[in-house]
Amino acid sequence: MGMCLKLLGLVSVGSAIGIGVLWHCFTSVPDLPDIPLGYWGPGAPKKDDTAVKPFTINISEADVKDFEARLDNTRNLVEPLEGIGFQYGFNSVYLKKVLAFWKNNYKWSERQTFLNKYPQFKTQIAGLNIHFIHVKPDAKSKGKKVVPVILLHGWPGSVREFYESIPMLTGQKAMPDVALELVIPSLPGYGWSDAARRPGMGPAQIGNIFTELMKRLGHDKFFIQGGDWGSVIGSSMALLHPQNVIGYHSNMCFCDGKIAMLHSIVGSMFPSLIVDEHMVDEFPGQFSNIIQESGYFHIQATKPDTVGVGLTDSPAGLAAYIIEKFSTWTNKKWRDLPDGGLENWDKTGLLDNIMIYWFSNSITTSMRLYSEGFSSKYRAYKLDDIPVTVPSGCARFDNEVAFSPTVSLRHKFTDLVQIKDYKGGHFAAFEVPKTLTDDLVDFIKTVLSRKPKKE
Ligand SMILES: *[C@@H]1O[C@H](CO)[C@@H](O)[C@H](O)[C@H]1NC(C)=O
Repeated sequence: MGMCLKLLGLVSVGSAIGIGVLWHCFTSVPDLPDIPLGYWGPGAPKKDDTAVKPFTINISEADVKDFEARLDNTRNLVEPLEGIGFQYGFNSVYLKKVLAFWKNNYKWSERQTFLNKYPQFKTQIAGLNIHFIHVKPDAKSKGKKVVPVILLHGWPGSVREFYESIPMLTGQKAMPDVALELVIPSLPGYGWSDAARRPGMGPAQIGNIFTELMKRLGHDKFFIQGGDWGSVIGSSMALLHPQNVIGYHSNMCFCDGKIAMLHSIVGSMFPSLIVDEHMVDEFPGQFSNIIQESGYFHIQATKPDTVGVGLTDSPAGLAAYIIEKFSTWTNKKWRDLPDGGLENWDKTGLLDNIMIYWFSNSITTSMRLYSEGFSSKYRAYKLDDIPVTVPSGCARFDNEVAFSPTVSLRHKFTDLVQIKDYKGGHFAAFEVPKTLTDDLVDFIKTVLSRKPKKE
């Protein structure tokens, strides 16, 4: 009996230590890594030309003709299986409609003028020419406090996602004394920003470039808004450059650290312990949906250049690959519809985004971000396990591919100023610009109205 008690005592002490070690594993916060700006251009490092030069999209006639010929020469597409919507991927019956619209109703010359409607610039940072839209407050805003905001897109998006949001932000009325100044860059390797020429350009490195961009434009302190990769890049800026970030706002607040993983595991078995009430029923099912929707992710994180060959060569292939995401990422139920629900989208806007990828020939370089952001070297930075301490705001959309429970977000974002739930999908800026911009303006207003912290 005495022996048993002693043993029990030993086991208890042992498991207490075990639990302690496990707890420490989960809660220990890694040191912030030092990630230099570096040089990503061709050849040996050169000094940047820091001039900010106006930029206009102007695709040569030869490139337009080449595009039209390839679109015209699309081969006979394979018929979908009988009775099938988008469950096997893009339905070719509907794709033919998109291609016919592209050929007959989409006029590139007009769309180029549209895409040039906001002032655009390029400037060289870390050896790369970075493209961005820059909308400054107009003359009517004289005397108002100018607050800079950088808006960050993701994959397979572009600066086009923000075109509807821009006037809503510059024309906001909720803060009468404030004028928002918008900077909207193309990610390196996307659209008209140069791509890195050597391996290693992950979200934190891109964040370094964008922080430098904001400083070059005279903004030492600014707000960030981002979705998709823009959200990951933005949170790395908030982590690595907190002195420059007034607030971080995202429509895909994301936490992938150890604690969030633990929350996910527990939440998938006992959702009511972890997950917000309105998502308790849906949460466990989201993991099979994530697997169903993330095949592209594994390919792009491993062999982006291979899949890039076909997409670079075929307008139909590029459109199917990208626009498919606007179906199920906007609403997973649309997978069962013959048109993938895509008739709910403005086709012209979707094709603008495709044209940016096509004419800049950037699909391959855009996909490499998955390889860089999930390399073992990058994951060793453990950025996901380091809390973001700047004021943060999360707009959660009910059709986002993955739902982040509030407990996980509060762990990652220690100063979570606001968290609100809305109807909408992954491409919130593009799909529901009013909802997103109202939430962003609300967030900025709240953060600006806080009393400055005593030092
Ligand atoms: C595009 O370039 C051509 C040839 O240099 C020029 O004539 C035309 O005005 C340019 N268009 C725009 C929109 O800049």
